[in-house]
Formats: sequence, C-alpha cells, structure tokens
Amino acid sequence: MQDFLTLKRSIEKILSIQCSNYKEDYIKRRILSRMRITGKENYGDYNSCLITSPEEQEALRNALTINVTKFWRDKDVFDMVKKDVLPEIIKRKQRIRIWSAGCATGEEPYTLAIIVYDLTRLKPDVQVTIFASDIDREAIRKAKEGIYDKRSLENLTESQIRRHFTLLDDGKYQVKQHLKDLIRFSIHDLMSGKAATNFLDVILCRNVTIYFTEEQKDELARVFHPALLRDGYYILGKTEFMGRKVEELYVPYNALQKIYQKKS
Ligand SMILES: C[S@@+](CC[C@H](N)C(=O)[O-])C[C@H]1O[C@@H](n2cnc3c(N)ncnc32)[C@H](O)[C@@H]1O
Repeated sequence: MQDFLTLKRSIEKILSIQCSNYKEDYIKRRILSRMRITGKENYGDYNSCLITSPEEQEALRNALTINVTKFWRDKDVFDMVKKDVLPEIIKRKQRIRIWSAGCATGEEPYTLAIIVYDLTRLKPDVQVTIFASDIDREAIRKAKEGIYDKRSLENLTESQIRRHFTLLDDGKYQVKQHLKDLIRFSIHDLMSGKAATNFLDVILCRNVTIYFTEEQKDELARVFHPALLRDGYYILGKTEFMGRKVEELYVPYNALQKIYQKKS
C-alpha cells in the first residue's frame, strides 16, 4: 500500500498527472500492465524504473492517457453534426468556433474539418476555426503531421480520401493543407480548471472522461459552460453521461447521441 502511494506521488511529480482525478481501479490496471511489460514484480521496483527511465515515463503517460480514436467515430453522431448542428449554427452566424477537447492523434478534428469544408465550400463569408487539444504531446505531434495508414481511413469514402489526402511514397496518406488550415492544435490539460479557449459554438469532449472520477467529470462540465456561447453545443462520447449535479447547466438536444446545448 505504502509503495503504491509512493508510486502515485512519483507519477504526480514526474508526469504532472493528478492521480486522484482518475478512478483508482483504472490507474492500477494501467500500472500493472506497464509492470508486466517491464518485468517489474512490485510497485517499489516499478517506481525505481519510472524515476530513472525517461522512456518508461513516456510509456506510462501514454498508457494512462490512451489515445485510441478513429475518423468518423460513431457515424450517426457526426452525421447529425453535419446535417443538423453545424447547419443550424451557419444559418445564424458567420464566425464559428469549435473545440475538439482530447483530440488524440487528430482523427476527430480532421473529421470535423472534412464536414466544415463540405458545408462551407460555397459560403465564402463563413469562417470556421477548429481548436484541437490534448494533454499528450506525442499525440499532438502526430495530429499536426496528419499522416495515417490506409486502415485508419476505412470510414472515409474514396472520394473523401482523394479530395483531402495525399498518397505518400510509403503507402501512407497525409491530410492536405486545406484541412490543416482549419485547425489550431495545442497541448492542454482538461484537469487544469481552465478551457483552452472561449466563445465557442461547439465543444466535443468524447471518450475522454471515461477514466475521470465523477467529481472531475462534473468539474469539466462546469468549466465548459462559460466557455460556450449562448445555445452552444456540448457533445459527449456515446457511453458517457452528464452528471446529475451539472445537468441543470445543459439541455439535451439529442440525448441518444449525447448532444447537449448550453442552458442560459
Ligand atoms: C480515447 S482518446 C479520445 C479521442 C477522441 N476524442 C475520440 O473520441 O476518438 C482520449 C484522449 O484523451 C486524452 N486525455 C486524457 N486525459 C486528458 C486530460 N487530462 N487533458 C487532456 N486530454 C486528456 C488522451 O491523451 C487521449 O488522447
């Protein structure tokens, strides 16, 4: 027990990750998985390894903030963003700001950029900025680079791939500049108590808070509320829930797709 507490203190100090904001079970499972991989039999040995090895620090950070993601993850949600949410906003304003919070390696913001590109191609007066952030520096580096293998593009049509990606010599695909120009990537910790930006029309924070404690999830919904403009949308992951204590801040727009609107 004492060794586990010492290890948690090292994680907080070295990785600047606040363990108390994550479910304890989750932290333990991730650490045990790294202990198996590194052949360490107890928390004490793993702690020594963590303190001395920058590679293991990076590996544990990645394990704690797993960034599994996909283009068009949950098709019906993004279809609704394309058919209803964004057209409704475009009808009433010309400067639109969207935040993909916890964007991992970029598939989510690039999906949004494809949607935005299609919706605004013939509307030169409409200007959309997509802010995309993650705590994981390496994920943001990959997102900025925008290089994916063919398998990652399986949810995109051939014509979307042709229009928005360049085929590289090694068989991978790179996002074209016209999509990159729509996105501003940054490093941001969602547990910092501050939004990465404000005056937002839409915040997507999907499949990020599943490992957060209930208090931390509620806190995030409270941080997002003032960052959203009137009637702004807050989109959660399909398996995530709006906490009881914060549900008075939002009204369901489509409860099934976990799309909410700010209550003024
Ligand atoms: C499973 S991915 C979700 C990616 C994308 N939103 C999606 O739905 O496909 C979760 C991401 O949340 C990020 N994350 C975890 N804790 C975070 C925190 N405190 N602040 C910012 N990002 C965080 C991870 O680094 C990871 O990239």
